[in-house]
Amino acid sequence: MTSFLLPPSLPFLIISYSMLIVVPSTTVAKQIKHFEFNVQMTNVARLCSTKSIVTVNGQFPGPELIVRESDQLIVKVTNHVPYNITLHWHGIRQLRSGWADGPAYVTQCPIQTGQTYVYNFTLIGQRGTFFWHAHISWLRATVYGPLIILPKIGVPYPFPEPYKEVPIILGEWWKADIEAVISQALQTGGGPNVSDAYTINGLLGPLYDCSTQDIFKLKVEARKTYMLRLINAAVNEELFFSVADHNLTVVDVDGVYVKPFDADIILISPGQTSNLLLRTKRSYPNAAFLMEARPYSTGLPGTYDNTTVAGVLEYESRTAASHKALPLRAPTLPAFNDTSFAANFAGKLRSLATRRFPARVPRGDPDRRFFFTVGIGTLPCPANSTCQGPTNDTMFAAAINNVSFVTPATALLQAHYFGRSRGVYTQDFPAFPEAPFDYTGAPPTTNAALGSGTRLAALPFNTKVEVVLQGTNILGAESHPLHLHGFNFFVIGRGSGNFDPANDPASFNLVDPVERNTVAVPAAGWVAIRFLADNPGVWLMHCHIEAHLSWGLKMAWLVQDGTLPKQKLPPPPSDLPKC
Ligand code: C2O
Repeated sequence: MTSFLLPPSLPFLIISYSMLIVVPSTTVAKQIKHFEFNVQMTNVARLCSTKSIVTVNGQFPGPELIVRESDQLIVKVTNHVPYNITLHWHGIRQLRSGWADGPAYVTQCPIQTGQTYVYNFTLIGQRGTFFWHAHISWLRATVYGPLIILPKIGVPYPFPEPYKEVPIILGEWWKADIEAVISQALQTGGGPNVSDAYTINGLLGPLYDCSTQDIFKLKVEARKTYMLRLINAAVNEELFFSVADHNLTVVDVDGVYVKPFDADIILISPGQTSNLLLRTKRSYPNAAFLMEARPYSTGLPGTYDNTTVAGVLEYESRTAASHKALPLRAPTLPAFNDTSFAANFAGKLRSLATRRFPARVPRGDPDRRFFFTVGIGTLPCPANSTCQGPTNDTMFAAAINNVSFVTPATALLQAHYFGRSRGVYTQDFPAFPEAPFDYTGAPPTTNAALGSGTRLAALPFNTKVEVVLQGTNILGAESHPLHLHGFNFFVIGRGSGNFDPANDPASFNLVDPVERNTVAVPAAGWVAIRFLADNPGVWLMHCHIEAHLSWGLKMAWLVQDGTLPKQKLPPPPSDLPKC
């Protein structure tokens, strides 16, 4: 029985169908799935010591939600910790359900200690690997988990059904208290302390101290295909990932199918996900295989955690021979600053673009064009204090088009919905740099000083938007994984150096560009994206490197209601938290 489509406006038709055909209950288009999330403090031992971290239901990583396309999710979140909390369902489009999106002070005020909020949303037209995470301060360092959307019953993958599916969620671990790390950085204006380790499914693996008991082991059989659902939930680092002596086939990124291609090394930015097929060997090998992740960074040594996390791929031997005796093979990962690897890998990604899974690229001329610079800079140190920015009188900051985003004291979406924007935000986000310069030329000594504000870019409903995201090399050229809430976008072009508006658009791919929700703006390079603003609300766009996010590398789109009832943002739920 394959799925069939019914006009949603004709419910009586559904009734008559179900009277005619005996449909197993699992094929009912929409199921409601309830979850209870208790945010609580939990003791966890890693790196030779125990610390108390914020978790959901005492689990680290948090609960894995396995749901199905078209399901409605009702997640009741209760805050039992001494911090404000919000949760975000990363990559979920939240069509007309912006109240459930989650970024603090953007779509909601935080859930305060002792309070509850119910996230209520429906998964429309999406299937693949996603994740959920805290979206306030740096709490997502420990508050995250996989969100897996299976295709509708009867709808196969566009590749052979894997024997097993395995979520692999990469994270980042600090010995210190995470909230102390970021609050110290914001007070001093210096860079936050780098992490001490990376994790695979919360485990550190054999290359760290006191972690030989904490190893993620994937036990496999020979001659099978496993689908790894890889998620980068690390706080600050893009990561290379590889499994020794095994090729991986990339079949999906950010919950969208791609034209499959083979890779022995994957590059995945914070906020990105990817489904990878791993074919096991034809016969049982006399070895076990490390899977490893470690950073891609163009920063100076010391500005990133250069450690490696490992898990183990083990073949289940029928004779149950001791695995300890088997030699352990390790993969070879690129150099930390291998930017040409990053460019080659990104260049391989193409939408599947079949009839069943078309690439709905907004074609023709866009209605609105934007050119955004993305990078680091400085803000002045508060009067009468000494800062640890690039100079004593500056603090590190980051911005889009020189506007370092100032988080308001109340939620933007409420202010918009109730027409109370005065004193909260303005709608004058610059569409182009106000003072253009050579963005990727010899490192400029000027231009580091940023402005700041809560400035939004307003878009009429259904605007066809094109944005060129231009990296800068002020205070160092870095790759910035930009994440857009509320939409997927198509990556229609990319290049190194400065974007050339006269010549580069000729090479834009409007046929099968990759569709995703997080794209790495190359170090000292640019990407061009397109999306259709068909989802009314206030939607954050930001660098998914938490250090940069805290420094203000974010902005928000305000997508206005359309004229039809189905094009309007519904009123907020009655339990929406107050600031
Ligand atoms: Cu995964 Cu705004 O974040």
